[in-house]
Amino acid sequence: MSKYRFEASDIYLPGTEIPANRLDIQDAELLGEIEESLLQQAYQVFVAELAPATRFDEAYFRELHRRTFATLYDWAGVYRTVDMAKGDSLFCRAVFLEPEAKRIFGELEAENYLKDARAWPTARFAERLAYYQGELIALHPFLELNGRITRLFTDLIAMANGYGPIDYGRSLDDSVPNAYIRASIACVQRADVEPLRQIILAGLVKADASPER
Ligand SMILES: Nc1ncnc2c1ncn2[C@@H]1O[C@H](COP(=O)(O)OP(=O)(O)O)[C@@H](O)[C@H]1O
Ligand SMILES: [Mg+2]
Repeated sequence: MSKYRFEASDIYLPGTEIPANRLDIQDAELLGEIEESLLQQAYQVFVAELAPATRFDEAYFRELHRRTFATLYDWAGVYRTVDMAKGDSLFCRAVFLEPEAKRIFGELEAENYLKDARAWPTARFAERLAYYQGELIALHPFLELNGRITRLFTDLIAMANGYGPIDYGRSLDDSVPNAYIRASIACVQRADVEPLRQIILAGLVKADASPER
C-alpha cells in the first residue's frame, strides 16, 4: 500500500473515468475520438505556425494544452492544484509545480530551446529531447492529457529541426508490458531517462530522409 494519500481530482463524471466536458459527452469512446481529432487538428495548426522566432517556452507549452482542448475542458492550459499519481508513481507535488516548471523551462531556454539541433548528431538531440520529455513526464502539470501534449511539444521541437514527428512505434501500444509507460516509470520513480532516450532515438527520423526499405 502506498504511504501517500492523494486528493482525487473531481474532473470526472461520478463513477467513471470520463472527464466532465463542455459538450456534455458521456460516452468514453466518442469523447476519445473527439480528443483524437482535436489533437490531429492541433498538429496541423501548430506545425503551420512554426517559425524561426518560435520559442518553446512555458507559455508556449501551456498554450498547446489550452488551444488543443479548450473546446472540451475548462481546465485546458491550467496547472493542477492537487497532487496526482499513476500506479506507484507520484508526479511533482502541486506546491512545487510552478518552481519546477520554471526550472525546466529555464534550462531549456539556456539551451536555446534546442533550436540549434539541426547541426547536431541525432544521438545528441535524442539525449536532450529525452531529458526534457522525461522532466515533463515527471512534472505532469495538467489534470489530464499530459502525455499527448508532452509528445506534441517534443514533436514540434523535432520538426523545427528538420525531423519528422517522433515515431514511437509500438512503444505506445496497449500491449503489456508497455514500453513507453515503463520508460515513464523509470523517469518518474528513478530519474532514469535511459529507456526513454532509446525510444526517442529510435523514433527520430529526418523529415527529408527517404524511407528505409
Ligand atoms: N505508472 C506510471 N508512472 C509514471 N508515469 C506514467 C505512468 N502511467 C502513465 N504515465 C505517464 O503519464 C502519461 C499519461 O498522462 P495523462 O495525463 O493521462 O495523458 P494522456 O491522457 O495524454 O495519456 C503517459 O504518457 C506517461 O508518460
Ligand atoms: Mg489520460
